[in-house]
Amino acid sequence: MIYAYDTDHFKILVVDDDDTILKLIQRFLGDQGYQVDTTLSGKRAVEKERESRYDLVILDLVLPDMNGLEVLKTLKKEDSSVSVLIMTGHGKIETAVQAMKLGADDYLQKPFKSLDVLLMAIKRIKEYRDLRAECTYLKEQLNETYSLNNIIGRSRKITDIFQLIRKVAPLNSTVLIEGESGTGKELIARAIHQYSERKESRFVAINCGAIPVTLLESELFGYERGAFTGAVQEKKGYFEAADAGTIFLDEISEMDLALQVKLLRVIQEKKFQRIGGTREIATDVRIIASTNRNLDQEVLQNRFRKDLYYRINVIKITVPPLRERQEDIPLLSYYFVKKYNEEFGRNIRSISSKVINAFLNHRWDGNVRELENVVEHAVAMTESEEIYPHDLPKNVFSLDTERETHSPLLHFDEAKRQFEKQYLEGILEMTKGNVTEASRVSSIPRQNIYEKIRKLKIDPNRFR
Ligand SMILES: Nc1ncnc2c1ncn2[C@@H]1O[C@H](COP(=O)(O)OP(=O)(O)OP(=O)(O)O)[C@@H](O)[C@H]1O
Ligand SMILES: [Mg+2]
Repeated sequence: MIYAYDTDHFKILVVDDDDTILKLIQRFLGDQGYQVDTTLSGKRAVEKERESRYDLVILDLVLPDMNGLEVLKTLKKEDSSVSVLIMTGHGKIETAVQAMKLGADDYLQKPFKSLDVLLMAIKRIKEYRDLRAECTYLKEQLNETYSLNNIIGRSRKITDIFQLIRKVAPLNSTVLIEGESGTGKELIARAIHQYSERKESRFVAINCGAIPVTLLESELFGYERGAFTGAVQEKKGYFEAADAGTIFLDEISEMDLALQVKLLRVIQEKKFQRIGGTREIATDVRIIASTNRNLDQEVLQNRFRKDLYYRINVIKITVPPLRERQEDIPLLSYYFVKKYNEEFGRNIRSISSKVINAFLNHRWDGNVRELENVVEHAVAMTESEEIYPHDLPKNVFSLDTERETHSPLLHFDEAKRQFEKQYLEGILEMTKGNVTEASRVSSIPRQNIYEKIRKLKIDPNRFR
């Protein structure tokens, strides 16, 4: 489970100029099972980090011996993977935003309403770190469980498809693969072929939407010499080329009605004639078809033959859009980083948690293909070993978050709005969109949460 939650082995250093606060936080977090050290000095904080390598440093920006931002910079230089949670006095949002720019993970305003607020922030940071660690691990272990023939995924929806592929591959039945553009339909078709006894023979893919009708017919069935002007020599079509193998009819809904009749005949009789020929040619081909349109609708509108639909819809695989299987996003992202590292000779090691978070919140209308393109772009653009928000195309990293990273001088109201939004979204994510629970952990009255959600245009359903 990605979000497995244990507090063991999570080492925290708290840095604050107020001893009372240090003791309070240490006791509170200690009770939650965290290992907590404290120090009053910025210099000492840097030394301790060097000695002990903490997972998280909770840092007050006001310290007696060093500027908090300097401490943050040095910590990050020492160990770029350390997480830093900033504590800032009331009304010091601008400094906090500056700290975020320098790589802090989050910030809290003091005094806290309750220590639970602190706990929530730590949990969120820990989740990011777990996610990152898990992804690094998975990256090296892209094993059978999370991948089948280059199809990557760990969500229930996709692993169910893995099972289905294994189950239907050995059969000769026609398979219909339905799904939005970029969801991986062709990958699935190839996997079915690979897992079948036909794998030594050819897999021939034809995009029915991309080839003009007349050409498509001759591509599929071939022609005899003299069949039409220009047919100076006989030519085999795909049905012959794919004999004993698999034919993948991509975007079958685009096929012309007359050609649909011919295809139906091949499926029923397992034989066909070349264009301009009379000879019956027997064919042993498995047909896999795909569509990103709803074929039921196409049939109703008389754009697709009902009898053909029944023939190809023997086994249907419906591939869910990426936004319905968000758990796959981190895994896929790392998979593509690896892929483009190899392709571009780069050595990018990680994806910043802000980027992963932006990915989790993006709509991905272009599905996995869009994600792949975004990662490819980022791998090409980034100048460091980690992918940061500014390496992403603008549409993926939302304006809100972008403003926060690029302009430290925000109007106070805007900074506050952003903070509230981020904070509430964090809490709703943890509580899976349960407002009552969110109210309990944050100590914000339920009614106020509803009001803020409405004002900040947060959709709680998104977290369910
Ligand atoms: N689960 C996945 N794991 C790894 N790569 C994937 C996955 N799904 C899709 N891809 C990649 O995304 C891209 C699009 O996949 P594919 O061509 O199979 O989609 P499609 O559903 O056929 O799209 P279209 O309807 O636009 O033809 C490919 O580069 C493919 O390798
Ligand atoms: Mg395709």
